[in-house]
This record gives sequence, structure tokens and C-alpha cells, in this order.
Amino acid sequence: MRTGLEGKTALVTGASRGIGKATALALAAEGANVVVSSRKQDALDAVAAEIRAACPDVGVLARAAHVGDADQAAACVDAAVAEFGRLDVLVNNAGTSPYFGPLADIDAAAAAKTVQVNQYAVVEWTQLAWHRSMREHGGAVINIASVGGMVTEHGIGYYNATKAAVIHLTRQFAVELAPRVRVNAIAPGLVKTALARALWEENEEAIAEALPLGRLGEPEDIAHAAVFLAGSAASWLTGQTLVVDGGSIVRPAIA
Ligand SMILES: NC(=O)c1ccc[n+]([C@@H]2O[C@H](COP(=O)([O-])OP(=O)(O)OC[C@H]3O[C@@H](n4cnc5c(N)ncnc54)[C@H](OP(=O)(O)O)[C@@H]3O)[C@@H](O)[C@H]2O)c1
Repeated sequence: MRTGLEGKTALVTGASRGIGKATALALAAEGANVVVSSRKQDALDAVAAEIRAACPDVGVLARAAHVGDADQAAACVDAAVAEFGRLDVLVNNAGTSPYFGPLADIDAAAAAKTVQVNQYAVVEWTQLAWHRSMREHGGAVINIASVGGMVTEHGIGYYNATKAAVIHLTRQFAVELAPRVRVNAIAPGLVKTALARALWEENEEAIAEALPLGRLGEPEDIAHAAVFLAGSAASWLTGQTLVVDGGSIVRPAIA
């Protein structure tokens, strides 16, 4: 499958580790220049060095930004456009889950933080990509949602509500930014990253056994889906959420 990503420029938020890092590496492997962003410059510099070693022919820019800080977000997108001339792919991947517990007990600060990073940042970074490059040159936006945005779960109900919002924002942006920009989402199931460690570390075998495909996700499982959605093979696809979850949400209901 040809992706057509060679020479394109992709910006990935939350790229210092986990799904974001794997996605940046996978896009670079397809020949895209990559801009990696998260809050920690040191971690990003290490990721950039890894990408340069693996893909010496692509451009790499490491630029720290808190996704919820409007000035830092604008500076990051501006730096990407200044360095590479345009922005073709935006992966809104940064995410947080600061509260575990029932909705009945979440406080306003934890709720606001979850919305700021998981939900409003998707709006803000997509606006920036549109106004500073994609309105003129076109492009693709990929939002990292979650299967949790489609089902109920104990403990992470508020996080999941922000992911449900991301699925709807994906549909709305797809309509508003068409036909120049395609906007799609990925809904990962449980992937072995730092963010989800508390959900899988002590229970991995049992969770894997309950999944149709018999294993938890790796960051690369999501990265491969992102490459597909970013590339030319997905050129007639917009507004959709691709579930990549080892089969978790198609398991039979309890009889
Ligand atoms: N792992 C799963 O099971 C799973 C399932 C469904 C969906 N997801 C989603 O997948 C995405 C990636 O998560 P992950 O599992 O790969 O987690 P991870 O390994 O913990 O990575 C999270 C990334 O987000 C960055 N980040 C966190 N807060 C940020 C902020 N305020 N501003 C900028 N960057 C920030 C972190 O970097 P810094 O600390 O350097 O800022 C890090 O690079 C998230 O949207 C998550 O909700 C994950």
C-alpha cells in the first residue's frame, strides 16, 4: 500500500512516549518530516534523535508545548510551518486521565483539566492547523479518541466522556473542513503505555485472555492505523472513528 506521505509534514502531540512516539516513528518511516511535541523538551530531543537515527532522510523538529496553552500551541504550529513550509498531517494524540473514580465524586479542577487536554486541545490545535496551513494546502487530521468513548467503564467515566466528545468533534470538523481536509479518529482499546498502566499492569494475562485477539495493544498497533488514515489510501474517508482494540467491543454480551 502506498501512503503518499513522502515529503509531507506531520505534527504529533504527546509524542514523547507511547502511542504518539510510535506514530511519529511510523510516519517518518513513510518519509514524512515530523514535528514531535509534548511538555518535556528533553524527552522530545531523545525521541527526535531516535527518529533521525532510524530515518536519516526526513526532517525532524522537537518542540515542547503544553497542549492546553494557547500561546505554546500557536508557537509550535508556527515553528512547524516555518521549518517545513506547511503542515499536512496533525495527530491530536496528547491525553490525560487525572482522576479515577465515580462521576459522583469528581471535582471541578480534575474535570476541567481532563477537558482542557483531551477535548478542547483537539479544537485548538485543529484550528491552528487549519488557519496556518491546511485551509490553503489541504491535509489530514487524526484524533486519538478511545473505545471508552463508546461504552461505559468503572473509574474513568469522565475521561471517557471527553473521548466521546472527540468522536463527535471528529464528525463535526470533518464536515466543516471538507473537502480540503479529512478528519478521522482512532479509538484504541487497552494499549500498554504509561497512561493506562494502572489498568493493565497487574492483570495483563486475564485481560488478554478475554480479548478475541488474545493480547493487549502495543503503541505500533495504533501507529499503523494512523499512517493509514493520514495517507492517500484513505483519501475518500472522513468523519470516521476506526476502532483498534483487539476486538474488545465486539465481545459477546453476557448471556
Ligand atoms: N493506552 C491506552 O490504553 C489508550 C487507550 C485509548 C486511548 N488512549 C489515548 O492515546 C493517547 C496517547 O496516550 P498513551 O497511552 O500513549 O499515553 P502516554 O504513553 O502516557 O503518553 C501521553 C503523551 O501525552 C503527553 N502529554 C500529556 N499531557 C500533556 C499536555 N498537557 N500537553 C502536551 N502533552 C501532554 C505526554 O508527554 P509529556 O509528559 O512529555 O507532556 C506523552 O507524550 C491519549 O490521548 C490517550 O487518551 C490510550
